Amino acid sequence: MTTPRAEWWRSAVIYQVYPRSFADADGDGIGDLAGALSRIDHLADLGVDAVWFSPFMPSPQKDAGYDISDYRDIDPLFGTLADFDAFLAAAHERGIRVIVDLVPNHSSDQHPWFQQALAAAPRSPERARYIFSDGKGPRGEEPPNNWPSFFGGSAWTRTVDPDGSPGQWYLHLFDSSQPDFNWQNEEVREEFRSILRFWLDRGADGFRVDVAHGLVKDPDLPDHDTTRTGAMGGLGNEAPYLAQEGVHEIYRDWRRLLDSYDGDRALCAEAWLPTLAQVALWVRPDEMHQAFNMNYLGTPWDAERLRAVIDESREVFGAVGAPSTWVLSNHDVVRHTSRLALPAEEQSVALGPDSAVLPDPVIALRRGRAATMVMLGLPGSSYLYQGEELGLPEVTEIADDERQDPRFFRSEGEAYGRDGCRVPLPWTADGPSHGFNDTGESWLPQPPHWGSFARDAQIADPSSTLSLYRRILRLRREHGLGTGDVEWMDGAGDDVLAFRNGDVMVLANLGEDPLALPEGHAIALSADLEEGLLPPDAAAWVVPARS
Ligand code: NOJ
Repeated sequence: MTTPRAEWWRSAVIYQVYPRSFADADGDGIGDLAGALSRIDHLADLGVDAVWFSPFMPSPQKDAGYDISDYRDIDPLFGTLADFDAFLAAAHERGIRVIVDLVPNHSSDQHPWFQQALAAAPRSPERARYIFSDGKGPRGEEPPNNWPSFFGGSAWTRTVDPDGSPGQWYLHLFDSSQPDFNWQNEEVREEFRSILRFWLDRGADGFRVDVAHGLVKDPDLPDHDTTRTGAMGGLGNEAPYLAQEGVHEIYRDWRRLLDSYDGDRALCAEAWLPTLAQVALWVRPDEMHQAFNMNYLGTPWDAERLRAVIDESREVFGAVGAPSTWVLSNHDVVRHTSRLALPAEEQSVALGPDSAVLPDPVIALRRGRAATMVMLGLPGSSYLYQGEELGLPEVTEIADDERQDPRFFRSEGEAYGRDGCRVPLPWTADGPSHGFNDTGESWLPQPPHWGSFARDAQIADPSSTLSLYRRILRLRREHGLGTGDVEWMDGAGDDVLAFRNGDVMVLANLGEDPLALPEGHAIALSADLEEGLLPPDAAAWVVPARS
């Protein structure tokens, strides 16, 4: 039986595998589950507690797998259900849990239900599984309302009736290939219960829930003020398609379902909302277990603002009995080993060859390493994004004709999109695709300097980012930091973050002057220390010196 408050997800370090870019066993240039299995000892050696796989289900891949056409299988691009079972068994043998990405807000337009809906008449049961509506204007030629897609343009696309004439419109908060389900329909709810059971029965340890704040829409479909938009959300319930009260009942239902399984299965909400107080509504005791802390991710390299967001996180999540989570990078944002060297107001803007401001790579890597030392020194659960343990920067030099992200196309090139953080990983300094596969194929081009970040170039170098991550994770476990506490230490200066978690003091220098380390302490771990001082953009974990 689990000790109260000792559930694994309260303190776990969870590593995000973006399968198409992790490791590619069949050499087609897109990563797969067999590739992931071949690299599983890297994950075990790193010391992570769980792996979250971005979607691997059958999909036309219009949004890199976040457009699913069959929720109960594996896309042949990534392998088979047997490959999933093999990965899961190997992970469990190594004490690593496996979290599946669930995309309940929308399916692919190639999902059989959507195809049936297109073939059926307006107001039919087939159409009632999605959000279809007549258009405005005398001939229904205008969309039903002014809702925008998060990827650019309108959130509505008009259908064509079987006789070739224009028909109803359907809602898609993302790409037009991603129609939104109608969660007011009990049939949709029952289908997702069954999908949850499918993966739980196979042994999945939980789900990361995509767009967890978006499922329920105001049924009146009212217009709203579109002057405020966020790239992936960042809007609250003033948008009639986000954070609607009715969404919570869905997660209460799912929580009951997960609780009926053994093994401490967990749900994590992806809910980008303006304030953490709003996010905390998703992790009330009878709802999800965790929610991503995108507000932490969105905080620039500024000691005062970081301290404030850490305090706020601990307060609002603590108030509902949930752990704080922390995250710096994922597949939707500029990698933190680039982003943290950008001016604060530029940090949410995607980077490309013609960006007005590009980060200084040396400062960015130093800040990235120091930021990781702060994050993993905090109690709670942290998410790592594949490749950050190698210090991979955002790839900014991808040409327009090599880009793949629908956001780039729907914004007509105005937003570079998210390809820069999705480039296949370098495992070896030399060789085809730097060890991503053995054919040299790569769905996004790897830049010329990629080999210098390769795992095999870092593994034996004690000063490498990979060695730093391995040591951080080992010490975090040894000192029980994940289940610890935060006690701020004042007096080191406004540009310093200094806190104690158990017997470890975490110090990060965000200012411009070198900082002396406290006397009577030994350095347990440091990134970029110089002559016993903590220079700007560096961090250290210190412990009391043994007398
Ligand atoms: C959030 C996912 O993280 C992102 O990659 C995706 O494009 C959207 N949800 C739509 O599913």
